[in-house]
Amino acid sequence: MQIEFTDSRPTGDYVLVLPSAGGTRPGVATLPDSARAEAVLKRERFEGDLGSSAELFVDEAGNSRRVLVVGTGGDSNPADVAEKLGGTAVARLLKSGETHAVIDVTGLSFDADSAARVALAAELRSWRYDRYHTRLKDKQKPTLEKVTIVGGGAGAADRWTNRWKPVAEGIDLTRSLVTEPANIIYPESFVERCRPLADLGIQIDVLDRDQMAKLNMGALLGVAQGSIREPRLLVLRWNGGGDGRPTAFVGKGVTFDTGGISIKPAAGMEAMKWDMGGAGAVAGAMMALAKRKAKANVIGICGLVENMPGGNAQRPGDVVTTMSGQTVEVINTDAEGRLVLADAVAYVQRTYQPSTIIDLATLTGAILISLGHEFAGLFTNDEQLADKLMQAADESGDKLWRMPLGDAFDRLLDSPIADMKNVGPREGGSITAAQFIKRFIENGTKWAHLDIAGMAWSDKPSDTYDKGATGFGVRLLDQYVADNLEA
Ligand code: BES
Ligand code: MN
Ligand code: ZN
Repeated sequence: MQIEFTDSRPTGDYVLVLPSAGGTRPGVATLPDSARAEAVLKRERFEGDLGSSAELFVDEAGNSRRVLVVGTGGDSNPADVAEKLGGTAVARLLKSGETHAVIDVTGLSFDADSAARVALAAELRSWRYDRYHTRLKDKQKPTLEKVTIVGGGAGAADRWTNRWKPVAEGIDLTRSLVTEPANIIYPESFVERCRPLADLGIQIDVLDRDQMAKLNMGALLGVAQGSIREPRLLVLRWNGGGDGRPTAFVGKGVTFDTGGISIKPAAGMEAMKWDMGGAGAVAGAMMALAKRKAKANVIGICGLVENMPGGNAQRPGDVVTTMSGQTVEVINTDAEGRLVLADAVAYVQRTYQPSTIIDLATLTGAILISLGHEFAGLFTNDEQLADKLMQAADESGDKLWRMPLGDAFDRLLDSPIADMKNVGPREGGSITAAQFIKRFIENGTKWAHLDIAGMAWSDKPSDTYDKGATGFGVRLLDQYVADNLEA
């Protein structure tokens, strides 16, 4: 989407988008024959509720101009109103036949940030992945190419370019990685898609199977061994903030999760192409941070494997030795994400001594039972980190809900033959999964685990995404960095 900011409405052909709260419609009053426009809105029962919209046509010098009125009523803060406005307008107009939309925010008293967020939501909501559609009918094709935001005031364009466009580009990367099927995105090709990040100043290191074997990453490699796809550990380093200890983001990157020998049922298994949503969010967040030259030291780690059954696959009951030295009895090969994360967090701690680790993983079906598609589960060993993440969640719209940890849950992982088993009972399944990762956190490192299984993909559209990959986590991590590492 082409985005532009101006002080006054352009001339020529475009669809005009006007915000309207409750009874006040400053924009509508500027239309030719505004009384008639008001009457039409009344007949359409348009009351200006946030996110509602109505369409009309007005005569302008003998031509018809299409006008989309978008509700901005209610008590929401300007940032939320702005995103609702941009997102609603684009959702309505993307395939409308119009190519240019002019969103006039004059009179809304937006600051530069809010005006730029109109652009952010417009950009995010227009994202789609049509690479594999070769026979789309004309009416199914998007037509909207350009959005002009009028009246955002000084600084809006800068704010867009320097703050939110980088985030939108990071989310684009995440969504592309998550949307691609598993015959296209597998560990090696995931790495190749991230190679261009080097041009942004990100240092890239990649560990292959032999290097991981030398480091004794038996848990990650145990998951990978049933697949002909070679596993990778991808390390993305952004050094924008001096010499302090870095913050680490660690993502589960299971490029396809069949369950392995503990195989999943056939129905719905195709969804497991997005079992790399955590790694996708880490890659996208790193891109956003680099593009906006964040003043922070951040390391992104993606544990990339494919979980397959096969003659060489690991078996239920196998015991593996992790990089940390601890041993694991693999009771269920479908509880593979925690095995990957165990070695990934051990590696990042021993190599880079981060002060804080935040891991993101589509880890358990149980988190969907607890929180549905509204919140990711937040598990952490540090109260301040909890507060910071809850704050970032609130600001970014990537919502979190705090979940408990505790010794009683930890004990459920004890094994008769090894230091631990990889699953507990069905009850509290998301919590025991988090406790498992916690066993690999060393020396008082602050750590948070985000179970994003309900959030990486959506079956229904929102203000900022269509059905499909959401890009969950990118805005959250970016906001966390902006608030806590750059302040
Ligand atoms: N990738 C799945 C979790 C998942 C399930 C994500 C549904 C998104 C939607 C994970 O690897 C898994 O299979 N977890 C098991 C754990 C169980 C075997 C203890 C689960 O949740 O069933
Ligand atoms: Mn699994
Ligand atoms: Zn999985």
